[in-house]
Formats: sequence, C-alpha cells, structure tokens
Amino acid sequence: MTSLTITPRGALRGTVAVPGDKSITHRAIILSALAEGRSTITGPCRGEDCLNTARSFRALGIRMDESPDRLEVHGKGLWGLSEPEYPLDCGNSGTGIRLLTGLLAGQDFFTVLTGDESVRRRPMGRVVKPLREMGAVISGRKGGELAPLAVTGRRLRGIAYASPIASAQVKSCLLLAGLYAEGVTRITEPRRSRDHTERLFRFFGIPVQEDGQAVVLQGRPAVGWLGKDLLVPGDLSAAAYFLVGACIVPESEVTILGVGVNPTRTGVLEILTEMGAHIQVANERDEAGEPVADLLVRSAHLRGIRIGAEWIPRMIDEFPILCVAAALAEGETVITGAEELRVKESDRIATMVSELRKMGARVTETPDGLIVQGLGKSGGRLRGAACTSHGDHRVAMALAIAGLTADKPTTIDETDCIETSFPEFYDKLLKSFTK
Ligand code: S3P
Repeated sequence: MTSLTITPRGALRGTVAVPGDKSITHRAIILSALAEGRSTITGPCRGEDCLNTARSFRALGIRMDESPDRLEVHGKGLWGLSEPEYPLDCGNSGTGIRLLTGLLAGQDFFTVLTGDESVRRRPMGRVVKPLREMGAVISGRKGGELAPLAVTGRRLRGIAYASPIASAQVKSCLLLAGLYAEGVTRITEPRRSRDHTERLFRFFGIPVQEDGQAVVLQGRPAVGWLGKDLLVPGDLSAAAYFLVGACIVPESEVTILGVGVNPTRTGVLEILTEMGAHIQVANERDEAGEPVADLLVRSAHLRGIRIGAEWIPRMIDEFPILCVAAALAEGETVITGAEELRVKESDRIATMVSELRKMGARVTETPDGLIVQGLGKSGGRLRGAACTSHGDHRVAMALAIAGLTADKPTTIDETDCIETSFPEFYDKLLKSFTK
C-alpha cells in the first residue's frame, strides 16, 4: 500500500491537462461496444475504473485495441454481446457496476458482477429495485442490496420511474436497460443529475427525449447506430484539485486545458467564484455534444459560503476538495443536504471531517453535511499531519492539496486508490510548482 508525502512549497504556475472525463469514458466505451463497427475514443480516462469497464467489455466479446491516448472499440451492435465466462470485476467503480447491471439485465445470458471491498459495501438496491420493476431477474447479497450481483437476462418492459435520489448512475442504468425494454422508459429525479448519457445517446443518434423534468426513451430501436470517433473532454472533477490548489497557494496561476464544462457538473466553478476565486473560462467549444473550455485560475482570498441541497448533484464529486477550500477560507461554510456523500467510495462527510481535523481545521460533522470555521481571517494555517485516504481517491487528492499550505509535511496513507481516476496526479502536481 503506497503513501504520499506532501511538502509545502512555492506557487503553482503553468499549464496542465487533466485525464479524460471518467463519466464520459465509461459511457463512450458502452455505447461504442453497442454500435456497429469501429469507434475511436481519443483522450479516454485511463484510471482503473474505466480500464475495468473496458476489461468487462472484452469479457463480453468486444474487441478493443489500446494505444497510449486512444481506445479503438469494435462494436457488434445492440444485440452483439455474449455471455462472459467469469464474473465481471468493476473494481472500485460504482458507475461501472451500476451501468453494467442495467445494460446486462436485458440480455439473453447470465452475468455476475462484482467489485472491490468499497463497491461491495455500496447500495445496489437503488438500481436493482427499479430494474426488477422492469422485469429483471437479479439476485445478490442482502436480497440484492449488495454486490456481487447475479443477473439472469430477461425480456424487459419500460416503466415510468420517479427516482427518490438525484443520481446519474441510477438514471443511466435505467436508460441502458430501457434500450432493451419493450415500450417507453421514463425517468424523473428530484434534481437534475449529470446528463452525459443523454448527450452521448444523441451524439450516436439514439433518440432520447426530455419532457419537462423527465428523460424518455423508446426501447428496442428498429435501427442500430454506427461507430463514431470522439474526443473525451478533460475531467472537471480532476481539474478541481488544481483549481483549489491555485486558489489557496499564494501567487499561483494555472491554466487547465480542454476541460468539460457541462452545466450539470459546473457547481464547483460557480461555488468557488462565489467564494471569491478568480477563474476565467476561455476558448469554449464543443466535443461530442459536450461543452469544453480552458480554465485559468489565480490565487485568491476565499470566503465561506452556504451550500444547500440544490447544489449537491452539480458538485457531488468535488465535496472533498471544496471542504479544503472552506477550511482555508475566511468565515463559516455550511454544507447541507449532502447525505449522498455518505455512500460514495467512502463516507466522505466522516472521512473529510476526521482527516481535516488532524490538520487543525475547525470542522463539525452534521447528519447531512458539515460546518467549517475557516482559518482564513487569522492568517491561520493547516498543520502538517499523518492522514489516511480511507481508500478513497478523491479524499487522497483533496488532502494532498490541503498539504500544500500546511506548516510542515503531510503524509497520506493508502494512496494507491488515486489510480482509479487520476494516475498522473502527483507528477502533474509536481510539474506545476515554480520551486
Ligand atoms: C457518476 C455519477 C455520480 C458521481 C460518480 C459518477 C456517473 O454518482 O458521484 O462519481 O458517472 O454517473 P451519482 O449520480 O450516483 O451520485
């Protein structure tokens, strides 16, 4: 098990590119595998989560050729997958296992899906329950609440489902099942979650409609779709570490190239700007139906903020790094309505409170969020400390950024998990220092 020691040093300055968007990479692999013919995915996320999804498709009979910045997928059409000989291991990826469960529920074969210790603790009932309403036959531990899941493919029927949680994983799982279902699948959620699946469906020419708050899909399309070439935008969730790093380390100035700025994801940009950050969004363009831009960020004096439930889906993965920004800001930050964070790769509310406290941050846990008294005004600093990531990549990277401003080195244990989304994180961080 690896650990990382972060030694505080000079400003962050320079230009960086971040890995391809993880959410879009999973979806690009899936839709390319179901397309007819070859698709080329340029700039995919090469973190373990997406590599596991690619491996799963190989086990489902799809040929994939990899080169350093490219994945060539030889799709076999909507009905072209075949029964894998062994359980599919989705590793640490909640997105991987939930999306694949939906996709595999409507096949005419049997699959077992599993993942690492963290995935096997995460709630699967949120997808298993609506899939069963569609006619799926799925069993698993605790009545299907926990992986491993055994999926016996069945003929599905479309349903109208009002999801109790705003979750793109639930929505996308049901849309993928809906492709194989008889009739219409209609999904509503309390707040809009990221819409990469809908955008990529349209990019490939799969008609998916929006009807007010609902996403609507006609199942079993009469004609399939052809393979396409696409460029994956940089991951805003990975860029967020450099955004906050540049804000909190004095005299920093960083440009992050080609980052996805899909409005269902940009909560972090709006929140940081409201906290006083200097962020410029430049050179906006479009890639495969997704908005992309370069982000320029300079150090700034941050102020505390109130973040309520309405913000959470649009900043869900940026919670750990925003906690770091809040810990160093001037004044109080209150985050509420964030109970979903308790069922991520770790209980992110509990892990961020315990680890930031070790570094001298003034943080109090609440059932659905936290309260931070920022150190900003007193010119206070975080203390270098011995921390752990709790096996959570986003906690590990957030603590590394926090360590940049501490009074002495910070050690973070269990940092192998960074491989799941951002293998080059530390190298890129080192490259952006002036000294
Ligand atoms: C993701 C959706 C989010 C997010 C996860 C990736 C996706 O989960 O936290 O990292 O790609 O669909 P929920 O939408 O389930 O909250």
